[in-house]
Amino acid sequence: MTKMKRTMVIVLSATATIASFSQVAEASSYRQAKTQLNLRTGASTENKVVTVIPTSEYVTEVSRLGTWSKVRYGTKTGYASTKFLLTDQQIGGLRIGKTLVVNPNLPLRSTYAPGESPIARAAFEKMKLAAKQEKITLVAFSTYRSYAYQKALFDKYVARDGFEKASTYSAQPGKSEHQTGLGFDIGGADSSKYAKFSFSSTKEAKWLATNSYRYGFHLRYPLGKESWTGYTYESWHFRYVGATLAAQLKVSGLTMEEYYKLEPGKPMTP
Ligand code: DAL
Ligand code: ZN
Repeated sequence: MTKMKRTMVIVLSATATIASFSQVAEASSYRQAKTQLNLRTGASTENKVVTVIPTSEYVTEVSRLGTWSKVRYGTKTGYASTKFLLTDQQIGGLRIGKTLVVNPNLPLRSTYAPGESPIARAAFEKMKLAAKQEKITLVAFSTYRSYAYQKALFDKYVARDGFEKASTYSAQPGKSEHQTGLGFDIGGADSSKYAKFSFSSTKEAKWLATNSYRYGFHLRYPLGKESWTGYTYESWHFRYVGATLAAQLKVSGLTMEEYYKLEPGKPMTP
């Protein structure tokens, strides 16, 4: 081998090492906006705002500068205050890419309290308007629920039905998608069918089952998938996952547990 060729081999293998290293670093530097957050051109509040990052959106942290983080948000790069960027540890559940998975095996931290996702709300409003054009009424009757609220709800069901039964239809505190602000319970014109099995045969439920994926909503607890999700069929519970993933889930007919090759949900274990 000539000297030149040997040098090339060394340079190429060094480049490959750096490339795989930076991919690892990138994967572990996702952060979630704790509140609505300004992305600025520099590391102080005197710098101009590049864009506003909505609550619960994921950004990639590139580096730190004092109390500021250099982050990427979509195609934009700028600086955001580090204290408003949550780590995976502070959230709990399981983040896969920019998708936060919550199920009976993957609980959220009790302190994680993002409120309703403005992105999910905007998607719901868009869907509601589209449905209205087809004379379909959609109502989001339960969206964000705090850890404390979910605990009160679950405790009420336990008092009525016992722990085991309650766990088949209600998430234990920390294990509800509603705590992420991305879980939307949706009903139709008849409020007496909210969160009831009877909602499944309404025109609104059928419209949702067919069309909700276009707006980024996934029917999270389908009929026949109880052993995967850990919950009985809920024709009203939708999880906002974004239009790309929602379409993939719809086409494949898979639950999030199956799609991501996770353990099936086990609601019975406290
Ligand atoms: N009913 C669903 C499982 C929840 O409580 O989040
Ligand atoms: Zn729900």
